[in-house]
Amino acid sequence: MPQDYHSLITAMRGLFTDDAEQFIPLHAPAFKGKEKEYLNECIDSTFVSSVGPFVDRIERDVAQYTGSRYAIACVNGTAALHIALLLSGVQPGDLVITQSLSFVATANAIRYAGADPIFLDIDPSNLALSAPALQAFLEEECSVNLRKECVHTASGRRVRAVVPMHSFGFCADALALKQIADSYGLALIEDAAESLGSFIGDQHSGTLGTFGTLSFNGNKTITAGGGGIILTQDEELAKKAKHLTTQAKQPHAWKFYHDQTAYNYRMPNLNAALLCAQLEQLPGFLGVKRQLANAYAALVEQHNSTQKEPIEFLLEPQGQTSNYWLCCMLMPNLEARDGFLEQANARGFMSRPAWELLHTLPMFKRCLVPAALIHSQSTYERLVNIPSSPYHLA
Ligand SMILES: Cc1ncc(COP(=O)(O)O)c(C=O)c1O
Repeated sequence: MPQDYHSLITAMRGLFTDDAEQFIPLHAPAFKGKEKEYLNECIDSTFVSSVGPFVDRIERDVAQYTGSRYAIACVNGTAALHIALLLSGVQPGDLVITQSLSFVATANAIRYAGADPIFLDIDPSNLALSAPALQAFLEEECSVNLRKECVHTASGRRVRAVVPMHSFGFCADALALKQIADSYGLALIEDAAESLGSFIGDQHSGTLGTFGTLSFNGNKTITAGGGGIILTQDEELAKKAKHLTTQAKQPHAWKFYHDQTAYNYRMPNLNAALLCAQLEQLPGFLGVKRQLANAYAALVEQHNSTQKEPIEFLLEPQGQTSNYWLCCMLMPNLEARDGFLEQANARGFMSRPAWELLHTLPMFKRCLVPAALIHSQSTYERLVNIPSSPYHLA
């Protein structure tokens, strides 16, 4: 008999509305600022495509907000990851280390670069790639050759990069991961698609690695409709990223000369206009999301006081600031997870489990999984995301 979560769901719904019929989405965007003004400006100017003042402005504004030296605007977060991997020197046949608990785009981008992912476990304290698991894998199964390349001993294949993902807005231990990656000559690419507004100490997620990549898909804390940003601290890499995302066209007043095979990955001005207006509202959105997370935590604590098997509401780990992109609860077990998901969704309180673990998907099931993914599996079986839109607390 599955657990009855009726009272908890009623109380959680009450944070949004008194109307029992109203559907509560998982994460819907809020357009309460200058979105229409900037979009109209764009249309009136006729600059709606990949050249325009809003594209340059969003690069400046995101760089300033994150404290990154450079920010390069892209069509989406997956494209941003693809470029970051290519500029980290990932080549066909290489291996790239990442986590199995992630959205499929992380591993897809590795494949776009012609490489194969290696899946390691997560750290249960932050749901991102585990630094001890990375250290153990590199120590036990890899070595650095005379060309200073990291090689996977059993296959002889080059390992080129490490891609941790800041899951649901909680940050990976990027400092520890960077230290380990550096000692094996590996690039660190932070998949920060979900973590705009999340900080490790006072450093924004995505600014510690060789690259960080952000997403502005419609379900993110702020949205461009579709969009992404590459963060880097290296001037040369920033120039190359801009070049590679703009068909490798050499700047010239009227000549069209392209010096390598490249990509049409630049964010259009229309999307950048929307994003500029959204970014202005980010501090307010983050405040509402934090308030919501605290309110959920209090309700879960109240619920637990009458239960034998408690639910764990995930709060930000010490030393971090989370953007609480999607609020997370760890249910006691798989049956409780599915019971909650059935009951919540039946009552219009949109909730979802974590992604299927990537190493179980058909296109990745032959990839290397060097050690048991104990924490990934347990998180997969227990985690639910509950509505986390950045607006309308009742
Ligand atoms: C972890 C992660 N990586 C990459 C992406 C890809 O971003 P986009 O949808 O903008 O391509 C997303 C989300 O959409 C994501 O959640």
